[in-house]
Amino acid sequence: MNWIVDNPKMNVVVMTGAGISAESGIQTFRGTNGLWENHRIEEVASPIAFRRDPVMVWNFYLQRRKQALTCRPNTGHLAVAELEKWIRSAGGSFLLVTQNVDGLHSRAGSRNVIEMHGSLMMTRCTACGEVFQDESTDMELPPRHDCPDKGLLRPHIVWFGESLFPGDMERIESAIEMCDMFIVIGTSGIVYPAAGLVNFANRLGKRTVCVNKDAPANIDLFDRFIEGEAGSELPKRLFPEK
Ligand code: APR
Repeated sequence: MNWIVDNPKMNVVVMTGAGISAESGIQTFRGTNGLWENHRIEEVASPIAFRRDPVMVWNFYLQRRKQALTCRPNTGHLAVAELEKWIRSAGGSFLLVTQNVDGLHSRAGSRNVIEMHGSLMMTRCTACGEVFQDESTDMELPPRHDCPDKGLLRPHIVWFGESLFPGDMERIESAIEMCDMFIVIGTSGIVYPAAGLVNFANRLGKRTVCVNKDAPANIDLFDRFIEGEAGSELPKRLFPEK
């Protein structure tokens, strides 16, 4: 069997997108039945939309939060979590970078994770900046923080037109610089800066592997492309079962 990772004494960075959660029942963004088919992105996932109509934006994110809480990690998430354990116990290093905000990787047991687009289960105060865990799905809208300014609360999500959280890009890039292999799973390769990380790894001469249901936009940048669904391909191909 031609495993993606056949030796655990390696430094590996994995980046995932919506495709890895599709088999858990979470809608992807693009493609048939994609979430953005029914919504204009800029009407719900941008700071302008939030300024214009915070209640509508909150309703959209509460609906997604509710849905994520009812879904369970699938065999793809579990395989990524097992790979991390295998590598770390052998002395290699492992970083998981996810564009997903559903929290399923952590629930599957992944530990070293950067949620580069934020999390549905976190809320942030627009006045004092406090970020906190928040799984409530029923609240008075728009919610206010109990800080001195009674700041308007917002989802802790990186919206279109916003930068990543401070420090995340530096941590991701230095992990890629140190890695032996960059594995990308379930992402269309369209949204930057995530898509640009493949160019970055490629320019550094890193081995790049992609597992995706359809060919991503940046397929030419990969050394190996495995076409298929993450939940069935990863358990069979990611690393040898112990
Ligand atoms: N297994 C593997 N890949 C899959 C599966 C599956 N079961 N199902 C779908 N895919 C693939 C699709 O072929 C597609 O290429 O996953 C990709 C999902 O693409 P998008 O919906 O564009 O999701 P993603 O790349 O994560 O989007 C990036 O865009 O709107 C924003 O902030 C949002 O983080 C998101 C970002």
